[in-house]
Amino acid sequence: MAGKGGAMSVHGRRVSRRDFLKAAGTAGLASAGAAALPSCGGLTTGVRAGAADSLRRLAAKKGLVIGSAFSPAAFRKDPQYGEILAREFNGLVAENAMKLEALQRVRGQFDFGRAEEIMGFARAHDMKVRAVPLVWHEALPDWARGRTFPRQEALDILREHIITVMRHFRGRIFAWDVLNEALSDKGPGLREEGPWFHSIGPDYVERVYHMAHEADPDAALFYNEFGMDGMSDKADRCYRWIKDLLARGVPIHGLGLQYHVQADAHPAAADVARNIRRFNDLGLTVHITELDVWLKKGAGPADFERQAAVYREIFETALAAPKCPAVFLWGFTDRYSWVPGISNGTYDQGLIFDREYRPKPAYEAIAAALR
Ligand code: G3I
Repeated sequence: MAGKGGAMSVHGRRVSRRDFLKAAGTAGLASAGAAALPSCGGLTTGVRAGAADSLRRLAAKKGLVIGSAFSPAAFRKDPQYGEILAREFNGLVAENAMKLEALQRVRGQFDFGRAEEIMGFARAHDMKVRAVPLVWHEALPDWARGRTFPRQEALDILREHIITVMRHFRGRIFAWDVLNEALSDKGPGLREEGPWFHSIGPDYVERVYHMAHEADPDAALFYNEFGMDGMSDKADRCYRWIKDLLARGVPIHGLGLQYHVQADAHPAAADVARNIRRFNDLGLTVHITELDVWLKKGAGPADFERQAAVYREIFETALAAPKCPAVFLWGFTDRYSWVPGISNGTYDQGLIFDREYRPKPAYEAIAAALR
């Protein structure tokens, strides 16, 4: 769970982001056997998009996009997964299928297969797609993991990736996270993990935004970050950094606040509102991009109510903000969530449907916020 300054805290224990992500490998997603099942590209689910009382119908009335992360593997093995997604959400984001390791497992060979399955599902159900992330220090293919490249070679790799991917999906993407989690968790400055900072230097940040703008001048280009949803030190650093980038003409149009929080340790709504407003005042659109609200294992009814209140609060805050027109959840059912894996089983049940696809109090709380 993202805490102040970007470090993560589990059970009161501070752990590094790296350790968290190491544990994410078994985050309850695809089963290996799922690959044999049929593709979801272009399939409808038989469920009418936007049923009368659905969250997406309520959100649309308020001009809000309500989205969820999508796992093609979960969709293939579990019919209810797609039915509920199509019924309740009008936005979609690939949990993993648009990352570098998925799109370019072999260097220079682009594989859009899984990403296109998601695009097909979104098209069939009239959903807006966030594309994430073009540049990140994680989710790297073998050919890039642990590597440092000569500066020009690294720039060429990123340029080819950004131009190829953005032109492939041109006109079909609601928002691009060009860069993900570039700020250091340890203090001022940029994160140094991954190949891009060391190979290119700090100016890789502005270079990738210029490349993205060149690839598609009409695209909405976002920066996405965790642990800075309220008024934290990291949020202050991000604010100053983006303000400076904008002053130097770097084409950044939006900010994604991930909003992975614990039900009993989350930023105050007033702070989230202030934070969103100051980025809006810089001219940026803000999206909530990866919302989940974690509960300690063994949670009881009072915890679910507390969780519901947090969900309600963030939707109300987004609706009241000058420009926060999208809230994306990092999945929707506890059956497939990264939370138990990343927290070594100490947290769970962070989403709005339980493992049996029953709506939790958080579902009704969102509906209430949207009414
Ligand atoms: O697909 C392989 C599978 O073939 C293999 O058998 C299995 C064995 O470990 O790994 C599978 O890939 C894993 C993938 O999730 C799908 O389960 C990766 O190892 C694992 O690293 C990956 O974790 C993802 C993580 O990002 C790193 O890419 C999580 O699902 C995903 O929820 C998480 O999402 C990130 C956002 O992109 C950025 N913000 C934070 C968020 C949570 O860390």
